[in-house]
Amino acid sequence: MTRTGSETNIKQNSIPEMALKGKFITLEGGEGCGKSTLLPRLAARLRAAGRKVLTTREPGGTDIGEQIRQVLQHRRQSVAMVSETELLLYCASRAQLIHEVILPALERGEIVLGDRFYDSTTVYQGVGRQLDLREVARIIKFAVDDCVPDLTVVIDLDPRVGLQRVRGRELFDRMDNQSLEFYERVRRGYLDLAKREPRRVKVVDGGRSVEDVERDVWGFVERVL
Ligand code: TMP
Repeated sequence: MTRTGSETNIKQNSIPEMALKGKFITLEGGEGCGKSTLLPRLAARLRAAGRKVLTTREPGGTDIGEQIRQVLQHRRQSVAMVSETELLLYCASRAQLIHEVILPALERGEIVLGDRFYDSTTVYQGVGRQLDLREVARIIKFAVDDCVPDLTVVIDLDPRVGLQRVRGRELFDRMDNQSLEFYERVRRGYLDLAKREPRRVKVVDGGRSVEDVERDVWGFVERVL
């Protein structure tokens, strides 16, 4: 990842002009797309190839971030949560994660594998919740500055299939209760993102066996290493 100096004031350990040695790769997709199954498999493969790997998940991944995760997932508290609050909480958790975890690992030359990053906010809060996309982009930029993944792979899946997978699980959080229409928007949001940023954002068909999906994702990962 290349990082340039910036005027934003949120970074105590901001890194001035420098090229970070590591690589930052993120997995994205709708509910039940399989990214959380893929992530450890990719990490194991990278480690077997001799790379140091750090995995992150969003929201969470730091002490403060895990507390924010609780707030976001707590059903009773969250019933009346407005979309603007939700947007800010995801971004707050991410800002913390970047400075505590992601940037230091990239500086050490590690590969950071992220289970979701700011594209989730663009798609879920911007496209899904239908917040003003320019405002969402502005708030994301404030939180992440120029911490942009080298590669983002979207695991694309029909939300009806994904939701069926998720509903078989015991843990079922607030976001899983959204309407099918919401998840159709999320899916379109990811596909549009890949059209807008084809160099960074790649799409793989998540409706196949985990081995097939992994093979395609690995192909993209190899190209950025
Ligand atoms: P996951 O643990 O299955 O990835 O679920 C996290 C949930 O949080 C999922 O429904 C997507 C949602 N989410 C957002 O709405 N915005 C975000 O910025 C992030 C990171 C997650």
